[in-house]
Amino acid sequence: MEKVTLTIDNIQVEVPKDYTILEAAKSIGVDIPTLCFLKDINEVGACRVCLVEIEGARSLQASCVHPVANGMVIKTNTEKVRDARKSTVELILSNHNRECLTCNRNKNCELQSLADELNIREIPFEGEIIETVVDNKSHSIVRDPSKCILCGRCVNVCKEYQKVGILEFTNRGYYTEVAPAFGRSMNDTPCIYCGQCIVNCPVGALKEKEDIDKVWEAIEDPEVHVVVQTAPAVRAALGEEFGYPIGTRVTGKMVAALKRLGFDKVFDTDFAADLTIMEEG
Ligand code: SF4
Ligand code: SF4
Ligand code: FES
Repeated sequence: MEKVTLTIDNIQVEVPKDYTILEAAKSIGVDIPTLCFLKDINEVGACRVCLVEIEGARSLQASCVHPVANGMVIKTNTEKVRDARKSTVELILSNHNRECLTCNRNKNCELQSLADELNIREIPFEGEIIETVVDNKSHSIVRDPSKCILCGRCVNVCKEYQKVGILEFTNRGYYTEVAPAFGRSMNDTPCIYCGQCIVNCPVGALKEKEDIDKVWEAIEDPEVHVVVQTAPAVRAALGEEFGYPIGTRVTGKMVAALKRLGFDKVFDTDFAADLTIMEEG
C-alpha cells in the first residue's frame, strides 16, 4: 500500500494512504476522543467529538472519517479543538436524560467518561427536552430514547453485522429517534435478541431486561423449587470475568456459586440437547 507522510502534533508519521486521521494518530499513540465511531461498523462522522485542526482547512474536521494526505499538518489538542469538543458534548448532554446514578451504565458509559475527560461541570444549554416513551414490552431488551445520543451504532451493527435491520432513524430534525419502523415496540419486530445493539450502545439507551428481583423472590420462597439453566458459553465467559485465561472452564465453580446463592438445581442447556439426541437419534 502506498504511504503518505503527515505531521500530527509536531510528530511526523508515515501511514498507508487509506488511513483516516484517527488511525494515523492512534498509530503514534496520540489519543483523540470519539463517541459515535465504531471501527468497521459505524464510521459515519455523526457526533463531531473527534474534531481536529488541519492546517489550511476552513473548519475543524472529524478525524474518524477524514482521510490522510501527504504533507498534512494536524493539531489534535488546541484550545479551538478542546472548546469545540466541549460544546458538542454539552449540546448532547442538554437533551440527555442525566439520571446517571440510577442508570445501569453508571460508571460504564462513554458519554459520562467523555464529559468527565472534557471537564464538563455544568450544562450551559438548558432548553426543551423531548418527551420520550420507554419501550420495555419485550422479554429481553429495554429501549430508553431519553438516553439515546443518535450515534447510529445500533442501527449499523444490526443492519450490517447481524443482517437483521430492526433499528433505524425515524422522524426528522429535533424529533429524530432511533427506533423500530412505524413506532413499533421491539416486541413487535423480528428482532432475534442477539444483544449486539446493547453491547455496542455507548450509553444506557438500550439495556438487557433484568429479572434479578423476581429470581430473588423465587429463591426466598420455600414453596418454590428454583432451577437455573446456563448456556454452554457461560462456563467459559464467567472465567474471563474473574481474570482466568480466555477459554478456561469454570463449570464446577459456577455450579457451587449458584447453589450457594440458593438455587435448588443447576442445569446446562446441553442437557436438553442430550435428551433431544437420545429421543430423536
Ligand atoms: S437484539 Fe440483535 S436483532 Fe435485535 S435489534 Fe439488537 S442487534 Fe438487532
Ligand atoms: S440506542 Fe445507543 S447505539 Fe443506538 S443510536 Fe442511540 S445511543 Fe447510539
Ligand atoms: S467519533 Fe468522529 S464524528 Fe463521532
